[in-house]
Amino acid sequence: MKRKEILLSSIFIILIASSSTYFLSLENKNSKKELDVMKKEESVLSYIENQEEYNPEYQIFYEQIRYREEENFFNEINTLLDLNYTPEDINNIYDYLRPENREKILSMEKVELKNYYSISNFEVEKIARYEEYQQKNNYTLTEAVLKVNIGLDHDFYTEIEPIKNKEEYTVLVNKYRSLEDYVPTDLKSLSYDTKYMLREQAADAFEKLVSAAKLDNIFIRPYSAYRSYEYQESLYEHYVNQDGKELADTYSARPGHSEHQTGLAVDVWSEGATEIKESDAKWLQDNSYKYGFIIRYTKENESITGYIEEPWHLRYLGIEIATDVYNKGITYDEYYDLCIK
Ligand code: DAL
Ligand code: ZN
Repeated sequence: MKRKEILLSSIFIILIASSSTYFLSLENKNSKKELDVMKKEESVLSYIENQEEYNPEYQIFYEQIRYREEENFFNEINTLLDLNYTPEDINNIYDYLRPENREKILSMEKVELKNYYSISNFEVEKIARYEEYQQKNNYTLTEAVLKVNIGLDHDFYTEIEPIKNKEEYTVLVNKYRSLEDYVPTDLKSLSYDTKYMLREQAADAFEKLVSAAKLDNIFIRPYSAYRSYEYQESLYEHYVNQDGKELADTYSARPGHSEHQTGLAVDVWSEGATEIKESDAKWLQDNSYKYGFIIRYTKENESITGYIEEPWHLRYLGIEIATDVYNKGITYDEYYDLCIK
């Protein structure tokens, strides 16, 4: 009996001891966490005090700026303080600005940034344009940022920039961005007729789309795919002679500005017809993304794309991006600014 008591009490003691060690270690862990948090939140003062960047005049500001492990951090905050940014501004700049914006403001006069912290795609050098465009059109700042980034505060075919990433499958081509004399390197003929060519992945995806459509009793065929700069030039000229420049610009791209020159766009007609039938267009609208294509020019986006609707013009982007564009229900011009650039 006594032995049993001894045994029980020793088990009891062991239990107490081990559980208190457990709680103690938990407590240690917690206080370590708190320490880490504090360290992260710590002001820059203790870090800069013994460095050559230390400027005693800024001591009170250093106390209010949170330390960051960024390269050149001390130099940058001194520059921002020289530019009259407050410690609060500086904390926000490091919390919310993309590094390219942060870099740019270092060599600009102070700008009011508070309305932009929640707008991830803004570009600091365009602030005057955003605000002018917003006031003129009664847009929200977020809308104005997106539209100005696309270039819409300028007339179509003005302020044109040469496209840098011409070879990328995600390339954005529009009335502000030119492919110049680019020719894709991986063009491949479509099985329907060798004269129709697309870039390799787009060609394979298009064959899949046509086969899938067939299974749904939708019969479609390509009628225009890759078009060279020169071919687009003659096509555009033909339309200008036929309809005048203003009208031609609503449905035909100027040379260098057609998606067809990327080898990633294809126009489709209904089999046996010289147009796309409504029911086939509907199928394309509902299903193209599953094979990596989007309908690039829609009725509701004419003011953004600058083209009247083209339910027959498919643009290849790959399944993942095409699906995302489809789900978001926005133009590729907008998507590019928000998600690709
Ligand atoms: N029809 C389209 C806009 C093009 O010419 O590329
Ligand atoms: Zn087209």
